[in-house]
Amino acid sequence: MPRPRRFLVCEPRHFAVQYAINPWMHEDTQVDVELARGQWAELIRAYRAHGHTVDSVEPVAGLPDMVFAANSALVVAGRVFGSLFHAPQRRPESTAYETWFKNAGFDVYRPESVCEGEGDLVLAGRHLLAGTGFRTERAAHHEVQEFFGVPTVSLTLVDPRFYHLDTALFVLDDGPGANIAYYPEAFSQGSREVLRRLFPDAVVATHEDAMVFGLNSVSDGRHVFIAPRAEALAGELARHGYVPVPVDLSEFQKAGGGIKCCTQEIRS
Ligand code: ARG
Repeated sequence: MPRPRRFLVCEPRHFAVQYAINPWMHEDTQVDVELARGQWAELIRAYRAHGHTVDSVEPVAGLPDMVFAANSALVVAGRVFGSLFHAPQRRPESTAYETWFKNAGFDVYRPESVCEGEGDLVLAGRHLLAGTGFRTERAAHHEVQEFFGVPTVSLTLVDPRFYHLDTALFVLDDGPGANIAYYPEAFSQGSREVLRRLFPDAVVATHEDAMVFGLNSVSDGRHVFIAPRAEALAGELARHGYVPVPVDLSEFQKAGGGIKCCTQEIRS
């Protein structure tokens, strides 16, 4: 059953590729700002059309990656675990999002270790899956477990193209029998084995699906907002009873981002 969600997003008014902090980014890349804005607006329309609430944080000039709202926090039961970015260029985003959360009535915990919010922290039923390898530090996994009291499973990412956990894995259903979709090759041998044990029925994606950010999807338990080029994965999801809702954020892939990156979930 789909569960209505509350999402926090940030309009790509100042979106650009001005520095390179992941392999998808190249300093000389021109972004088509109008196209990016149009694609982003389609995502918001799609969320609303499926009954989800969308809140928006005011974008800040000079923070071109601020559109990637997922990285700002993990929110569970109204408690906000904030962010500390790896790249100095992105560090001021934490404060901008913190201000939004405070004005909306939330307290924000500031992590001591590098932690990039839902980019690397994925709530999957009884477990919190936590990525490390490129951005979020392992010490933050311990901090987040202490904060929420949710069993936290560390997963090691090994391919720099899949530098955040949410580029290689997403949650299909977050109830007690949570299930996920993921791309095994993005993970270390041991982490793959952990995922196999925890999610024996997971949907396994191909290299092609992963390369077009098919794993950077958002599911409400039934509808899966997914990159249209992730055709094999969309077919596989449909066979599992999900309804793929294609939304093209190709312009954001120039910055190494996709649908999930642009979406922060506020779980009250
Ligand atoms: N350019 C951004 C970065 O490298 C993209 C962030 C994508 N966000 C995500 N949740 N994967 O930090």
